[in-house]
Amino acid sequence: MSKVVIMDHPLIQHKIGMIRRTDTGTKDFRQTISEIAMLICYEATRDLQLKDVEIETPICKTTVKQLKGRKLCVVPILRAGLGMVDGMLALIPAAKVGHIGLYRDPETLKPVEYYCKMPADVADREIFVVDPMLATGGSSVAAIQMLKDRGCKNIHFMCIIAAPEGLEAMKNAHPDVDIYVGSLDERLNEHGYIVPGLGDAGDRIFGTK
Ligand code: PRP
Ligand code: URA
Repeated sequence: MSKVVIMDHPLIQHKIGMIRRTDTGTKDFRQTISEIAMLICYEATRDLQLKDVEIETPICKTTVKQLKGRKLCVVPILRAGLGMVDGMLALIPAAKVGHIGLYRDPETLKPVEYYCKMPADVADREIFVVDPMLATGGSSVAAIQMLKDRGCKNIHFMCIIAAPEGLEAMKNAHPDVDIYVGSLDERLNEHGYIVPGLGDAGDRIFGTK
C-alpha cells in the first residue's frame, strides 16, 4: 500500500499560501514553487538508505554516512513539473533528469502524451516524479505507467497541491508508489480545477495567460 505524506511544515504551508494568491506574479510564483519543491524533496528523501564509509578527516580516521543504493532520477511532467526541477536538484545535484510531456485535454480531462525522454539506465534508478498539481490524477497516473512500462520499479510522486479525487486515483492505480503532497485541498470544480487551488500551474509558472 502506498505511503501518503501530507506536509505539515510551517514553511511549506506559508509558501503555498503565497502561490495561491491571484496577485502573486510570475517571478515570485516561479521562485516560490522552486522553494516548495526543495522543502518537499527534503521530506521525500527521508527514507533514502545510508551506508557507513571509512574516511579521513584532517584529524583522524572516522566512519561517515553516505547515500547507498540506487542513483536518483527526477522526472518532471511537462510543463508545470519543470518548475520543481531546480528545487529538487538543489538538494540532489547528482540526479539525472527525465522528461515526460503530457497535457490534459480541456474537454475530456484525459492526458495526452507528447514526449518522453529518459536516462538510459532509468529502470535502475530511484525516481521522483514531480508535478505541482494532482487534480483528476489522469496525468500522474499515466506518467507513472509510462515509467513502469520502461521497467522502473522504485517510484515516488511529489506534488504541491492535490485534490482528494486525484489522490484516490493514484492510490488505486499505483499502490506501490509513495506520494508526497504539499497541501490536500477540498475538491475539483466542474472544469477539473482544484478548489481552492492556485489556478493553472503551467500558465502561472511560464506567464502564458
Ligand atoms: C496540469 C498539471 C498536471 C495536470 C493535473 O498540466 O501540471 O500535469 O494538469 O491534472 P490531472 O491530475 O487532472 O491530470 P496541464 O495539462 O495543464 O499541462 P501544462 O503543464 O502543460 O500546462
Ligand atoms: N491543472 C492545474 O494546473 N490546475 C488545476 O487546478 C488542475 C489541473
